[in-house]
Amino acid sequence: MLPGTQDLIQIRTINDVRGNLSFIESGQDIPFKTERIYYLHGVPQGAERGGHAHKQLKQLLIAASGSFDVVLDDGKNKNTITLSDPRQGLLIESMVWRELKNFTEGAVCLVLASEHYDEADYFRNYDDFLIATQQQ
Ligand code: TYD
Repeated sequence: MLPGTQDLIQIRTINDVRGNLSFIESGQDIPFKTERIYYLHGVPQGAERGGHAHKQLKQLLIAASGSFDVVLDDGKNKNTITLSDPRQGLLIESMVWRELKNFTEGAVCLVLASEHYDEADYFRNYDDFLIATQQQ
């Protein structure tokens, strides 16, 4: 199965004349407890983020503002998803290589993560990642 498309979740959103309020409750709306939140902002035109996979970490990515593309690769299949709706979240399981590109000016990528930051959880080398996926 292609990684990504099936992992787009609709974030509960309350809309009234004052605008939208979207909310996520750990363990209810997403299948992990959020231990860390970070966000990418001020990404210059043409810059790419990501370029790694995680051994254990699960994440939810949200285009809180603007849009960007997420290329997902599980070692077998590749898929590109454009995030542009703050009411949608892209769930990325562990062992999925991701690249983020084509950020619009002012775009903000909000990330909910299942673990604290741990450099040892990263695959930063694509060949090492591929070897690990073949051993699974
Ligand atoms: P990285 O995960 O490579 O960013 P991206 O995937 O967006 O390109 O992280 C960039 C740098 O920031 C790297 O030195 C690790 C550091 N970092 C933290 O210290 N804490 C964090 O929670 C994250 C996500 C990164």
